[in-house]
Amino acid sequence: MENELLFATNNAHKLREIQEIIGDSYHILSLKDIQLDIEIPETSDTIEDNASQKAQFIFDKTGRNCFADDTGLEIEALDGRPGVYSARYAGEECSFEDNMRKVLEEMDQIQNRKAIFRCIVCLIFEGNEYLFEGRVEGVILPAKRGKGGFGYDPVFLPDGFDQTFAEMPPYLKNGISHRGKAITRMIRFLETLE
Ligand code: IMP
Repeated sequence: MENELLFATNNAHKLREIQEIIGDSYHILSLKDIQLDIEIPETSDTIEDNASQKAQFIFDKTGRNCFADDTGLEIEALDGRPGVYSARYAGEECSFEDNMRKVLEEMDQIQNRKAIFRCIVCLIFEGNEYLFEGRVEGVILPAKRGKGGFGYDPVFLPDGFDQTFAEMPPYLKNGISHRGKAITRMIRFLETLE
């Protein structure tokens, strides 16, 4: 099929978000769609290298045009933590809830609540690697709000909005989010190649 891209993730939330962001311009295949049941390594210490490691791993396995993303929540008062360790901040087998609890505990009594979600998308297209970045600035609330989204969404209030990422309808989050911006940059780049 034309305009087909394989998304190197096993995260169903992300897959849904990316499909909504990209719409009809590209057909996104998941690893499940190609019956690839595999753990993707993510062992680097920057989000750039992690995105590249994941995309390269899947490209080496499949030889297909593919992309991967990696995100870090960088909190100013915590010197950029959890950053590249956002997924496993509270420990190896931790849940989103555990991670949020740890961040809220560490932020207790801290006045400076500024935080950034930074996403890197790594595209491997016809064997060449390209990186795209998206950022969204906001604050960490003192308590969770909302049931949507995933990860740290209930505690992240983007600047200029009065709903957390977990309270927003998906189209709104995707329109302003770190991942939405990075993916949109990738799609614009691909359109220049057509
Ligand atoms: P990943 O490396 O891109 O999977 O992201 C690492 C971690 O960052 C995830 O496990 C989530 O906890 C968090 N994260 C990534 N994207 C988002 C988002 O859009 N909202 C909230 N948390 C996110």
